[in-house]
Amino acid sequence: MTDATHGAHRPRDPHGSPPPFTGYRIFGAVMVLLLLIALAVQVFELFDGDNRTVPEVRWGSPPTSEVQSGLSSVGATDMLRERATLQGPRDIYGPSPEDDRSFQVGSETRLNTEAIPNPDGFLTGAWSTPDADTLPLVRGTDRVEGISSLPYTGAAIYERPFARDWRLGLADIATHLGALVILGFSLLLALMLALRGRVPIVRGKSGRKVERFGWFERATHWMTSVSFLMLALTGIVIAYGDTLILPFGDALLGSTGWLATWGHMMFFPSFALGVVIMFVMWVRHNLPSRLDVNWLAKGGGMFSDDVHPSARKFNAGQKLIFWSVILGGGAMILSGVLLMFPFFLLDINGMGWTMLIHAVVGLIMIAIIIGHIYIGSVGMQGAFWAMWSGEVDRNWAAEHHDLWLSDMEEKGSAR
Ligand code: HEM
Repeated sequence: MTDATHGAHRPRDPHGSPPPFTGYRIFGAVMVLLLLIALAVQVFELFDGDNRTVPEVRWGSPPTSEVQSGLSSVGATDMLRERATLQGPRDIYGPSPEDDRSFQVGSETRLNTEAIPNPDGFLTGAWSTPDADTLPLVRGTDRVEGISSLPYTGAAIYERPFARDWRLGLADIATHLGALVILGFSLLLALMLALRGRVPIVRGKSGRKVERFGWFERATHWMTSVSFLMLALTGIVIAYGDTLILPFGDALLGSTGWLATWGHMMFFPSFALGVVIMFVMWVRHNLPSRLDVNWLAKGGGMFSDDVHPSARKFNAGQKLIFWSVILGGGAMILSGVLLMFPFFLLDINGMGWTMLIHAVVGLIMIAIIIGHIYIGSVGMQGAFWAMWSGEVDRNWAAEHHDLWLSDMEEKGSAR
């Protein structure tokens, strides 16, 4: 297959290179700087250790005067009851220990909490590291059965080995690596814009148009993409609110978190509908072909103005986006529905896996779609109009979708 560029309606500018698009390259350089700072913050977050859960208060004795006056008689049973009470719902058992360090439980016992001077000590030693006798119990099998000595309902559920892996996977691996992937990939795109600039229409605009997407295709695209962007933004608030919003105040995190939780479900139906329509509408243009191998081998012509590998309606890069949206979007929809109806079909392990899959696939999809938005807007001259007005310049079509342009010409759809 040759690098066909037939159909271009203006000869190459004899004086050489296309316009330099300096503004875009400066924008790319600024983004490189900002993303480097964001990546540095993320790497710091990875190692600052503040995502570990450390107990901050411990049991103290009631004030001596109260013990003497008989108001409080704390035996072993009472201690356990108090401890269980501390785990109970605050609206029933009183204010948070942080607000009021001594409060009434039942008719006579007073509950006291004291700050632990150096909670980091809990990160080492027996509290966090199971000893040789315990290790085979918690690691050896999928399921540990026995009696929990912790006096709150549900303790046995939270102590499962998988729950620890789940917490590590969700709180540490998925969120930190996800942020690194999203920021790192965005940095690569910004570098490309700064160093290479926009992919230009090498022959310049011909002024003649070809219809690329009809109104139904565009409406479907924008419905799906606005829904995806809202799902991504609300998902980011849910996953990273603590890091990104909490510094601006817990009231703001409270209200954005509330909006994000509901918004996340609100935009799901239109996204799901869009993915289904896109599949039906575009699947026949996205089946793999031998042209794709050639396109990929030439890097899609992204790195040189003189290379234009042949493509029909969708090139290999676009097919990858399409299948990411269909398969990744499908996985998000399925796992999202399972999460909306907890324990309806799945047990607790199934729910844990579903959350992990939902988070990991979601983060990967955000990174992929950032790449798509880049190439569909600032990254390539002339691409955006395909999806906005539905028409593209004929020279753009000749350089990026030559075989599709020939088909259009045969059908008489090209002006
Ligand atoms: C909001 C920013 C977005 C912009 C500027 C944008 C732009 C574009 C453009 C210009 C095209 C047509 C490319 C061509 O002529 O072949 C396109 C196609 C497409 N878009 Fe988007 N898009 C955006 C968001 C999204 C989102 C969020 C999704 C899905 C979650 C999506 C999914 C698709 C798919 C599946 C195609 C067809 C395959 C392809 O061309 O890659 N787009 N988009």
